[in-house]
Order: sequence, then structure tokens, then C-alpha cells
Amino acid sequence: MFEHLTTAPDDPILGLNEKFKQDQREQRVNLIVGVYQDETGEIPEFRAVSEARRRISSNVKANYLGIEGDQVYAKLASELLLGADSPRFRSGNWVAAQSLGGTGGLRVVADFLARCQVTNTVWHTDPTWVNHQSIFNAAGLQTKPFPYLDSAGKGLDFPGMIAALEQIPAGHAVLLHGCCHNPTGVDPTADQWRAVIEVLQKRNLLPILDCAYQGFGDGLEADVLACRLVSEHVNEAIIVQSFSKNFSLYNQRVGAVLFLTKDSVQAGTLRSQVKAAIRANYSNPPQYGAALVRTVLGTPELRTDWQNELEAMRLRIATLRRRFSQSLREKCDHDFSHIAKQSGMFSFSGLTPEQVVRLRDEFAIYFVGNGRMNVAGLNESNLEVTTRAIAEVVGRVPVSVS
Ligand code: LMR
Repeated sequence: MFEHLTTAPDDPILGLNEKFKQDQREQRVNLIVGVYQDETGEIPEFRAVSEARRRISSNVKANYLGIEGDQVYAKLASELLLGADSPRFRSGNWVAAQSLGGTGGLRVVADFLARCQVTNTVWHTDPTWVNHQSIFNAAGLQTKPFPYLDSAGKGLDFPGMIAALEQIPAGHAVLLHGCCHNPTGVDPTADQWRAVIEVLQKRNLLPILDCAYQGFGDGLEADVLACRLVSEHVNEAIIVQSFSKNFSLYNQRVGAVLFLTKDSVQAGTLRSQVKAAIRANYSNPPQYGAALVRTVLGTPELRTDWQNELEAMRLRIATLRRRFSQSLREKCDHDFSHIAKQSGMFSFSGLTPEQVVRLRDEFAIYFVGNGRMNVAGLNESNLEVTTRAIAEVVGRVPVSVS
């Protein structure tokens, strides 16, 4: 039965992270996975989450959750995206379900699109998160890229993107990163978002927004501008959310899917189909992580404390970006100024695959093979060593001979 099997390739992100763990060199630098690390290199727990753990510890029941998970949690999660006063919540033209992180949410969406024959094609930015295509392909949908990055690889190719979206056949889905584009850190401006959403609406394309980094770009509210514009201007859309990063709950797998519908009748039909998709996948989600998020979002003092701590993380990443780019400017000719301007955890460094391999093999500094770096993996003790190694592989500033 298994004779014909060949070895599957390692995952470009999580597979590389396994290699990092096996690396015995003392001064290793991990800029691989999108995980926020503090100044000491640890993944911090939010104070509000610690407090939520204490508050719910005696309250966790053993029974299954419903297929769509904790509905109070799902509503709070949706409100975080659209704002509690969104007209959607009054009119009932929405459906939300708890999911297994953002990835699990995307897979529910993929299964739903396939089983209900909503569309057979999902278009995605080029580049996109390495797992996006696999998730939709696994459900039997085809994926196609549209241009996103400019030729220098540092900014948005807005005209190219709009021109491509204009050509996509009506009825296809378009997957966008709600904020903090992964892997590039390049996001559309507010006006560009407006133009993109206008094209999606005009051409009758289904927006799917992947929103895994809310709070790490321009702020908790600013980062959901695209979600709010979609909710205002498009009848039918899908938003996938993750609390892995902004609640630092990576291994709890807490996420949500939000379906925006034409009206409340459609919402009822859709709910039944989403439940069928979840039931055939993992039956129903686990309770604990969602209970933590629900407790924090639903308790004003914990929510404020969480927001403040998240904001401090965001600002620290922005400082790291500036320090990193400045340190590189002092050491090499190569232009890394774009890194200071981008948002979220990631940047496309512009390093070639060969340079990435050299950094790993000679200096124990790990980037994803496509040159993506997790800026949130930098700190005072590894920034200098990292920039020195990068200068070494791209070529140092020539010493001027007077
Ligand atoms: C990443 O892009 O590094 C994260 O979303 C983690 C993952 O699952 O790839």
C-alpha cells in the first residue's frame, strides 16, 4: 500500500524551524516563523491572558462545544474586526464560527467553497504565505497568482495588481491579506484598498481576507480598514482571523471565520453549510483557547490591558525595523531602507536564496528561503550580529582609500 510513496518536501517555514531546533551552534538567530519574541527571545504571555487563565480555571467543562464553537467568542471576534456598532450585527447578515487558528479557518473556507460549488478558483497575491495554495488545493480548488510586489521587490505594484484584478472572471475568489502582508510586509494604503475593493465589487469577485496579524501593523483599528470597507461595500465576503499572534496563543489554535452575507436568510443557509464543512473536518473545536480570548475581550479591564500590551509590541517591532535598517546602512551599500517602512512582523529582505543559505550555514542566522524575515525575532543581543553577517554576504561598504 505504501510502496509507491516518496518523501514530501519539508515545509518551507515549519520544516526549517525544525532544522533550527537541531542546530547546536551557540549564537543562532531564528527569524523564521511569525512568532513575536521579546527582548530576551522568549514568547511572552499577555498579562490579561494570565489573568484570564486564573479566572476560567474552575469553569472549563468537559462536554463538546457546538460545531461552530463558542458563539459568544465568535461574536466578540467578529466585533473586533468590524466594530461592535457595525450595521451587520443589527441586520443579521453575517455568520461566524470558531476555527483552529487561521489555517484551520482557511481550510473551513476552502471546504465550504468546494462543497457548495461557490467557485473553483482562488486568486492570491504573488507572493503569498507559503501555505495558502496548499490549503485551497487540498480542498480541490485551483489557485492562481496576481501581481503584488513591484519589480524592486520592495513596494506594491498597485497598477499591476489592479489591472490583473480587472481581468479575473466574475465569480472567482480573491484572497487578500487584511493587514501585515505575509511574506512581504507591504500593504496597500487606505486609498489603494478603496480602489481594490471597488474592483472586487464591480467585477463580482468574492473577497477572502486573511487577517492573522491584527494589531501588529498600524494599530488594532487601523489594521482592519480593509475588513470594514469590504463589510460596507460588498454584500458577500469572507474574513478569516487568527489569535495566535495578537494573543500569543500559538499552540491553542484559536481563530474564527466570518461570512458576510446578502441578508439574514442567506446567513441561515450559510450557517448550515459551514457547520457541515466543519463537522466533516474536525467535528467541533476545542474550548480552552477561545475561552481565554472570550474572557479578555469580554472583560473591559483585561481588554484594555491586552490592547496596551499589544500596542507596545507593535511599537517595539517598528523600532526594531528602524534599528535594523540603520545598522545595515552603516555596514553595506545594499538598500534595506524598505524594511523600516513596512508593517507587521515580516519583510522581504531582498536576499537571494544563495545568500539565505550562506547566512544559515556560515552564521547560523535563519531566514525563510524566499528571503522573508520575521523582524519580531530580532533583539538587542542578536541585531548587531545579524546585520554584520548580512553585510558579509551582500558585500560590505568598500573602505575608502584617501
Ligand atoms: C508564518 O507565516 O510564519 C506563520 O503564519 C506560521 C505558519 O504557520 O507558517
